[in-house]
Amino acid sequence: MRHYVIAGVLVIVLAVATYAGLMAVHLMPAQASAQAVTIDNLWNLELAVISFLFALIMVPLLYSLFVFRRRKDEKGEGEHIEGNTTLEITWTVVPLILVLVFAYLGTYTLGEVLAVDPNAMEVDVIARQWAWQFDYPQGFSSKELHLLVNHQVVLNMKSLDVLHDFYVPQFRIKQDILPGEITTYRITPTMIGDFTAECAQLCGTGHTYMTATVIVQSQSDYDAWIKAQEAAAAAAAQTPLGRGQQLVAQNGCTGCHSVDGSSTGIAPTWKGLYQSQVKLNNGTAVTADAAYLTESIVSPSAKIVAGFQDNVMPKTFGTALTQSQISDIVTYIESLK
Ligand code: CUA
Repeated sequence: MRHYVIAGVLVIVLAVATYAGLMAVHLMPAQASAQAVTIDNLWNLELAVISFLFALIMVPLLYSLFVFRRRKDEKGEGEHIEGNTTLEITWTVVPLILVLVFAYLGTYTLGEVLAVDPNAMEVDVIARQWAWQFDYPQGFSSKELHLLVNHQVVLNMKSLDVLHDFYVPQFRIKQDILPGEITTYRITPTMIGDFTAECAQLCGTGHTYMTATVIVQSQSDYDAWIKAQEAAAAAAAQTPLGRGQQLVAQNGCTGCHSVDGSSTGIAPTWKGLYQSQVKLNNGTAVTADAAYLTESIVSPSAKIVAGFQDNVMPKTFGTALTQSQISDIVTYIESLK
């Protein structure tokens, strides 16, 4: 009986110490969303149970090793014990109940985390190697994700190439983005401040740099930012060049065509393209004038640049875009010297 009391006290002491130690090292960063609170509650409960189980295994093990070790003058065998129905039922039923309780808590937490606020704002997220783009319903695109504090937002996310994953550690939620599918990310930020969204799926050489700034703002700051973006978009829409740039962003052209001379491997860069000599896959060359650029948008299969594949560029732009929209895009491409 004395051994049970001592071991029992040691189990409680070690369990509490383990849990306090795990809490003290702050395994998780700041809690910056309503969903983070729900997730952390479950996580902390799991840590408490894990701490207790750790103590429940380690204390009897070490206690037996030291207290019941073979003394110098001891000879012979230890007591032979066979079967203990009570113990076996206990260590089957107790874990079963624990697993069922956690199954319930896990389901409940998932339900809470996915809870839909009918007033949630929507932002479209485009992921590609290796950048994020956030398209707002007000009609502009941003490289930064601005969010309104204490207001649920749902991100409709798509990938232009490979698997990516949107992850803001302070929000806790993590969601894969799959090519050819739209996945959603629902979050209610609760802390004003700057955070970093990271891509959490290895997606190629630039994966490490695939980050975006997430800025959670008060109502007045958020409104001011939206207004400024709308004004900038409206001002840009006044010129063919500005309109062209917006159309390029809206149609995702830069997912395949870089504008800085870098190679995506999918399609030729636009930088320095205008008036350059373009080698075609049939061995001839052509000058990249406005007529060539227009033809390449409307009938992408007419001329294929050497080193690139046919049937990659959508053939729908000729009908999806108006003549003047195509002309605006060409003006933008011409500006990329
Ligand atoms: Cu995108 Cu890693």
